[in-house]
Amino acid sequence: LAGGPLAGKHVLVTSGPTHEPIDPVRYIANRSSGAQGTAIARALAGLGADVTFVTGPADVAPPQGVRVVEVESARDMLAAVEAALPADAAVFAAAVADWRVASASDRKIKKDGSGSLPVLEFAENPDILATVAQMKKGRPGLVVGFAAETDDVVENATAKRARKGCDWIVANDVSPATGIMGGAENAITLIDETGAEAWPRLSKAEVATRLAARIAEALA
Ligand code: C5P
Repeated sequence: LAGGPLAGKHVLVTSGPTHEPIDPVRYIANRSSGAQGTAIARALAGLGADVTFVTGPADVAPPQGVRVVEVESARDMLAAVEAALPADAAVFAAAVADWRVASASDRKIKKDGSGSLPVLEFAENPDILATVAQMKKGRPGLVVGFAAETDDVVENATAKRARKGCDWIVANDVSPATGIMGGAENAITLIDETGAEAWPRLSKAEVATRLAARIAEALA
């Protein structure tokens, strides 16, 4: 029988980048590896949670022992998240593209030889975290967002927590000098309603282990 402090709890985790199509063969993406989200899903499953892992096209393989839902675009990710609810907790670690190409072409855009260049127009993607955090009915009891910042990390992440309506924000400094984006380590600040708690620089696996333990405490 499955044991652990999160046995019987359904936890949703989003992870990875999204790919926003330009045409059937081209897309716009970002550099998220999916490493931190994958580690979090693995740690939650290790505590006995029933995990739904909604992932964009990531560099790292999804963990064992979770329900994997693979998506490409932000809109696909929102639909998969809505389909996966209800959940006791939801962790939004995905690096969702802020914009998509407004009218992606059904056919490959051709170089026509005239020298004319395609012009891409963008549309704003849905904010998945804010959508779920602000649900009137069926909101998960604990909603955790991430904030990748390069400046004024705590200040910006605290404002983000209020704006999005989530319970916790895991803030990290992704300035290039930190080597965090795509690296094996992370230095986070956990922000909740009581304030900001800076964690030491840890492996992404250790960040995940500690965060999963905190989630288990919160759901207990
Ligand atoms: O606004 P920003 O992208 O900095 O917020 C980051 C947080 O919001 C992350 O938790 C990310 O997963 C989530 N997010 C989302 N949908 C978006 C944009 C961000 O769920 N369209």
